[in-house]
Amino acid sequence: MDGYKTEFLTKEQSYTADFDFSNFRERKDVYSFLLQEGPLDWECLSRAYFQDRKLFSKYVGVSKTHAGYGDVVKWQYIDNLDSRHIFFSTFIFSHCKNVKEIVEIGGGYGNMVRLNHPVINFDKWTIVDLPFVSNLQKWYLSHEIKNVSKLRFVSAYDYSSIIDNKFDLCIGTNSISELAWDDFETYYNSIILNCKYFFYAGHTYNCGRELLSAKLKHISNDFSLVKNFDEGFIDSYDDNILYNNLYENTRL
Ligand SMILES: C[S@@+](CC[C@H](N)C(=O)[O-])C[C@H]1O[C@@H](n2cnc3c(N)ncnc32)[C@H](O)[C@@H]1O
Repeated sequence: MDGYKTEFLTKEQSYTADFDFSNFRERKDVYSFLLQEGPLDWECLSRAYFQDRKLFSKYVGVSKTHAGYGDVVKWQYIDNLDSRHIFFSTFIFSHCKNVKEIVEIGGGYGNMVRLNHPVINFDKWTIVDLPFVSNLQKWYLSHEIKNVSKLRFVSAYDYSSIIDNKFDLCIGTNSISELAWDDFETYYNSIILNCKYFFYAGHTYNCGRELLSAKLKHISNDFSLVKNFDEGFIDSYDDNILYNNLYENTRL
């Protein structure tokens, strides 16, 4: 029941304090677990369009700089991961209106923030992540967003400062699903239960079915499903099915 914990911690050991983020998209030795280059995913984009056409139009218009690209990975305005994050964003925000306080657990390099910052009128977006990933988020988002005052970066090793906070929305895209059971449970009790909405996306194929189904069962004790979408992609993986669940807290 350890999820991908060992992989995250192994990668953390390859990180150094003087890390050069300028071509982080090529640094699979450190950040492979959060990179997903590749061609635009039309299926995700068309599903996003049918979730909410107006929101979809806004997301596809969000600017993207060359930050993080080097010589090998070529810049793409909308790549595979952007397509998926545009789908996630329309899925969430077509339903969740007037969301002011957002917490994201495991935010990758900050791409959900990049896409949503100019589109959603939130007050604060907090990302909790491992410090070597938070440092990447700070670097990346300071290049993509001119004013980062609405962003807060919190360490996964000490998030005591936010455990009494109430949030309108918690986002976990292929992150909470990959945590070890103990880490999941601690986040669940101290942060996720304090959130009105919870968006939970994960792959069915990774981390083992036992861990994944235990988490889904646990969540269903306190949250009701607002909507879900199971995607069966026909691409490079067999059985690459994603579940996307938007929940509402039944305790608040
Ligand atoms: C597969 S990546 C997904 C990133 C991003 N959410 C996305 O959709 O592309 C997993 C994320 O979980 C983060 N993570 C791993 N262990 C964590 C922990 N204990 N607490 C918070 N985040 C963690 C990783 O650093 C990474 O940002």
